[in-house]
Amino acid sequence: MTPDLDRSTIETAYARWAPIYDVICGPVMLKGRRAAAAEARAIGGKVLEVGVGTGLSFDDYDASTEVTGIDLSAPMLEKARAKMDSGRYPWVKQVLQMDAHRMSFADASFDCVVAQFVITLVENPELVLSECHRVVKPGGRIILVNHLYSEVGVAAAVERWTAQRTRNLGLRPEFPFARLQAWAQSTKEAVLIERRKLRPFGLYTLVCFEKTPTPLAA
Ligand SMILES: C[S@@+](CC[C@H](N)C(=O)[O-])C[C@H]1O[C@@H](n2cnc3c(N)ncnc32)[C@H](O)[C@@H]1O
Repeated sequence: MTPDLDRSTIETAYARWAPIYDVICGPVMLKGRRAAAAEARAIGGKVLEVGVGTGLSFDDYDASTEVTGIDLSAPMLEKARAKMDSGRYPWVKQVLQMDAHRMSFADASFDCVVAQFVITLVENPELVLSECHRVVKPGGRIILVNHLYSEVGVAAAVERWTAQRTRNLGLRPEFPFARLQAWAQSTKEAVLIERRKLRPFGLYTLVCFEKTPTPLAA
């Protein structure tokens, strides 16, 4: 397994991606992005998009939500702000440059936290999940969508081979689901409630965690 990516690799990679990101990653990741946003819309209310990037998901929300986006990359956020300035997305409240490992939001600020194609490439995925868990309200959800490691067979071999070669592009194709599951098992009030492969081809997986409400004292 390749080690987790480091911050400078991510920042350099996404500064390069920013001008071409929508053209290349818009259509390829559309179904995954839509599926995650549909789960968030079903909850409604305050949504935090971690690693919002250029704001490609803004189209997938509506007035049932109030979206805040954060991202490390200033060039990616510049594109997101241009989309906000178009006036087409009144449900997007703000986008902020912020590291998902250390968010400045108060505990229990959001009804739902969404991270689309992000968790596999952050420096410390477990710490980011714990931050997402902290800022989501009791009863709220963390919704992830990603390509996850195939573990066996030809697909897994291809992912291992490409992992070394795509690292400087800020991509990581061999991240195992077991790591997400282990985080939930070791985290108080975090429950894995869904793991669903998405059509077509099951290339992307949607993973949902719920923060269980704290029981009332007797
Ligand atoms: C593959 S892009 C996905 C962007 C968007 N979610 C989408 O679906 O198009 C990954 C994004 O995560 C951001 N990112 C990586 N590490 C981060 C961190 N620690 N905190 C916030 N954003 C981060 C990158 O800057 C990049 O914009």
